[in-house]
Amino acid sequence: MKLIIEKSREGRGCTILPECDVPVTTLPKSQTRSAAPRLPQIAETDISRHYTQLMKRTHGVNDGFYPLGSCTMKYNPRINEEIAALPQFSKIHPLQPQHTVQGCLEVFAKAEQYLCEITGMDAMSFQPAAGAHGEFTGLLLIKAYHKSRGDSNRTKIIVPDSAHGTNPASATMAGYTIVNVPSQADGCVDIEKLKSVVGSDTAGLMLTNPNTVGLFDKNILEITKIIHDAGGLCYYDGANLNAVMGIVRPGDMGFDVIHLNLHKTFSTPHGGGGPGSGPVGCKNLLTPFLPAPHWHKEGEGYAFDTESPQSIGRVKEFYGNFLVVVKALTYILTLGSEGITEAAQNAVLNANYLMNRLSDLYDMAFQHTCMHEFVITLERLKKEHGVSAMDIAKGLLDNGIHPPTMYFPLIVHEALMVEPTETESKDTLDEAAEVFRKLYHTAQTNPESLHNAPITTPVRRLDEVGAARNPRLKYEFEL
Ligand SMILES: Cc1ncc(COP(=O)(O)O)c(C=O)c1O
Repeated sequence: MKLIIEKSREGRGCTILPECDVPVTTLPKSQTRSAAPRLPQIAETDISRHYTQLMKRTHGVNDGFYPLGSCTMKYNPRINEEIAALPQFSKIHPLQPQHTVQGCLEVFAKAEQYLCEITGMDAMSFQPAAGAHGEFTGLLLIKAYHKSRGDSNRTKIIVPDSAHGTNPASATMAGYTIVNVPSQADGCVDIEKLKSVVGSDTAGLMLTNPNTVGLFDKNILEITKIIHDAGGLCYYDGANLNAVMGIVRPGDMGFDVIHLNLHKTFSTPHGGGGPGSGPVGCKNLLTPFLPAPHWHKEGEGYAFDTESPQSIGRVKEFYGNFLVVVKALTYILTLGSEGITEAAQNAVLNANYLMNRLSDLYDMAFQHTCMHEFVITLERLKKEHGVSAMDIAKGLLDNGIHPPTMYFPLIVHEALMVEPTETESKDTLDEAAEVFRKLYHTAQTNPESLHNAPITTPVRRLDEVGAARNPRLKYEFEL
């Protein structure tokens, strides 16, 4: 398929600009381009066809089951889009005077109120644009807290090996040294190892819970106590909140700071790079450091704070990805407190149902009841029949199912991580179970066929090694 740039033809286009209705001004020469940007010149029909063609080459949540572990690819109710498209939300400008956007400020305030209620936190900032961005922001809060107390020796962040990969990356970016703690055979943090690494240099711990093997750490209260007793703070990676929202609250488990992935749990379509929202919530001891500006109630309305002397400052221009917050608030109000709890319960039920439908054939990395996702290990199948996690994943595509997350978490060999989400029916789960089972038998009887899968999709098996080693990320124009 040609790139849109390759379809460009000089002089072709589809923009008819209206007459200019404001005085024309000339920009200083230093601020003007020397040449026009090389944007594709293309007719509306061709643009429409180009993107429709592209769309048909991918698998979206509207095409079929999408059990991509660690990603919560749930169905996103259309009402979210309708509300976010209202001109009062979508046609505003971030520099408008505050009194003209009081409704939008109320969206922030209400979303903060409900999400604090759900997480057990005291305040929240919506500036971070994604989960990892939220982690980075949360770590800066921890750093500012220790600094404000003159505690400059705390240079280390403890990260269990079952944490999401972004946790150590964010902590490194925030200037911390990472201390890794292994998991025990049951997938939970090794408490004795944790005790042996904690100390006066511990700034905090980052816990992904449920962790990346789909388990709720049974020692969570002991973990937060160990860290607090050593003077550190506890960070909860709340990107997997879908399993526990409305049931338990990280704030009640001793966590001081959390990020959420609104674009996973609170139903904004994601994948393909955004937009996302990774709000950071914290307990009162950290609120003075939250990104500025935050808002406060003023008379009947709201106003942005003008002074936040201890704030870490801005982490994103303006106020974050506002429309994602609108969608999250719509979702929360649509479900209500009972619906939020039910969504988490069904997410866990669906994962356990599918796991049980498969566990007589496939080896589960951890045998016990899972939370919202579970991990299959194909190590044995690979040894005995040469069929890898990648082969099964590609075989699923031939059956209209998006592959689970592959080769993650890293602590499980030949991993397939399956997260069905709560929005799938029992029929869909049963159909998916049959496909998984069929592929298992194919792996034993005709493994070769799986090495070539997928064969029915518009795009066949890609050269992933080639793409990783020699990425072509920009178009080279002919001069
Ligand atoms: C547990 C966990 N933490 C953090 C992240 C990072 O979120 P993002 O991709 O929005 O940066 C993810 C991503 O899905 C995640 O699953």
